[in-house]
Amino acid sequence: MSNQHNQEKLSSARFSEATDAFVEEFTASIQFDKRMYRQDIQGSVAHAKMLHKVGILDKQELQDIIDGLEKVQSDIEAGKMNWSIKQEDIHMNIEAKLTDLIGITGKKLHTGRSRNDQVATDIRLYLRDEIDAILPEMTRLQQGILLLAEKEADTIMPGFTHLQTAQPVTFGHHMMAWFEMIKRDVERLEDCRKRVNTMPLGSAALAGTTYPIQREYTAELLQFDRISENSLDGVSDRDFAIEFTAFAATFLMHLSRFSEELVLWSSAQFNFIDLPDRFCTGSSIMPQKKNPDVPELVRGKTGRVYGHLMSLLTLMKSQPLAYNKDNQEDKEPLFDAIDTVRGSLRAFADMVPAIIVNREATYAAAKQGFSTATDLADYLVNKGLPFRDAHEVVGLAVAHGIQTGQDLSEMPLETLQAFHSSITDDVFEVLTLEGSVAARDHLGGTAPKQVKAAIKRAKDRL
Ligand code: ARG
Repeated sequence: MSNQHNQEKLSSARFSEATDAFVEEFTASIQFDKRMYRQDIQGSVAHAKMLHKVGILDKQELQDIIDGLEKVQSDIEAGKMNWSIKQEDIHMNIEAKLTDLIGITGKKLHTGRSRNDQVATDIRLYLRDEIDAILPEMTRLQQGILLLAEKEADTIMPGFTHLQTAQPVTFGHHMMAWFEMIKRDVERLEDCRKRVNTMPLGSAALAGTTYPIQREYTAELLQFDRISENSLDGVSDRDFAIEFTAFAATFLMHLSRFSEELVLWSSAQFNFIDLPDRFCTGSSIMPQKKNPDVPELVRGKTGRVYGHLMSLLTLMKSQPLAYNKDNQEDKEPLFDAIDTVRGSLRAFADMVPAIIVNREATYAAAKQGFSTATDLADYLVNKGLPFRDAHEVVGLAVAHGIQTGQDLSEMPLETLQAFHSSITDDVFEVLTLEGSVAARDHLGGTAPKQVKAAIKRAKDRL
């Protein structure tokens, strides 16, 4: 085996023939793992400092490695790196480039580690950085929702079950339902971060290493909160990627629900809201069209994130300990889940506070569909009727309303009294939309007073 060949492919000294060109390409991951270059270098610098601390690298060697890695990073960032399929992945590309730059010392960097613990460390560092970028964007979305909720705290709209008019609610209340979903997503992501922030470095290939490494020191340099406690698990655990993708799937599911409502509400048939033009596009053939592309696209993107969750679960299913090449397949689903979350989140955080509500339209819609029928039933219960009987009486009144094209609040008192004699003049207070929402005045209810209190609690917590 010539030294030349050895330079080309670091791990191939035992091989008597070169890797098949197609296999080389098929097994490489550099095409997609190069996005972790910063974390790979960050991990290597910390590892080198630890090797120096325990006496494996001398001062000069450490300095050469750090300087060399800095040069590699600036070359990458200047677009001057020649990524090579021959060097298979981000780890070997960077190490080969380092060795080109500083010579033999570069080959000492890999002492006491393996690509198996290196890659597991890189992905965790990468995902941690992404989570730390996502969390403030989640807050921005929450603030946007709160802004809209506050503006529309008194706005009345129909609340739906089965997409049929059910009872009036306030628009602010509807916004705060979205807020609650995002609040849970944030909790899930913060919880996921705890397990992401565990350091597998030091697990080496699978069994640990014979060198006197100090994992606590490396962990401290890399700001890991914890160190993995079993080397076999350390190199092969991808639970954290599954957890993040489960967060992403749930979050996109929530965004798909918002999206669906925004699409419906911005249609001419509902006309509840206007989406600002900058979030919409026209049609190439129908001049009148303004399409809600952003929410539609986010709704559509939900599917790919579900797919990534299923990919990762299936990737890990039945894998024997410890590292297997299968694990290289963890990156593309995870990266795409991250990108999809970030793009969709940005779009929503920008769009939500800019939504314009057509208050007349939501009010008029709430007036249709007998949305205060339950209020009339509750009124009769207050007058002493059992709820089931009240339900029956109101059912008859509604049937009459359908026949005559009148809302309950539009019927003369005598008409209402024909359905039950206990009905008196004060009934109109409960039949109005304002009266109906104001009456649901308890924690979690739709009364404007309660919605404002919920907004205040949310603001205090953000
Ligand atoms: N590119 C590999 C991956 O993404 C790095 C680890 C390779 N380790 C190995 N033993 N082949 O998983």
